[in-house]
Amino acid sequence: MRTLVLIKPDGVVRSRVGAIISRFEDKGLKVVAMKLMKLDRASAERHYAVHKGKPFYDSLLNYITSNPIVAMVIEGNNCIDIVRKMMGATNGAKAEPGTIRGDYSVGIDFNLIHGSDSEESAKYEIPIFFEDREILTYERADRDWL
Ligand code: RTP
Ligand code: MG
Repeated sequence: MRTLVLIKPDGVVRSRVGAIISRFEDKGLKVVAMKLMKLDRASAERHYAVHKGKPFYDSLLNYITSNPIVAMVIEGNNCIDIVRKMMGATNGAKAEPGTIRGDYSVGIDFNLIHGSDSEESAKYEIPIFFEDREILTYERADRDWL
């Protein structure tokens, strides 16, 4: 199973990229694709198409295209639910301590990270950021223990 994870512009400009990726590595998930990129408006609109028309849509697009992001494909057993749990609630003020948003954010406007919310979403989102050939195959050395 695969999921799309984005470290949003606040995660990059606040220098939390390494800390966030470490959490996923420590958990036992595998990063199989990764890039630092500035998201263009059209791709941002595609990615957040489900939110078109909502009051926060324009500010969300401005935020996600404002500075570089780190896009990743993460693989692992149950990775979609695990990543969502590790991210915490959308609003950092409500997210549990110990989660990424709970530990690093205090509101809903800047919440550091995106993770696909279902297999269907992951299948829609991953090709917006990665071509098939950019998603790599390798084994973690500790795979038999995960
Ligand atoms: P994401 O899609 O980024 O992983 O976040 P999510 O599933 O936890 O939250 P979602 O409801 O999909 O909202 C997408 C992003 O839009 C911004 N947002 N702002 N001001 C608001 O009421 C509001 N609601 C959502 C957040 O950046 C949220 O992550
Ligand atoms: Mg979402």
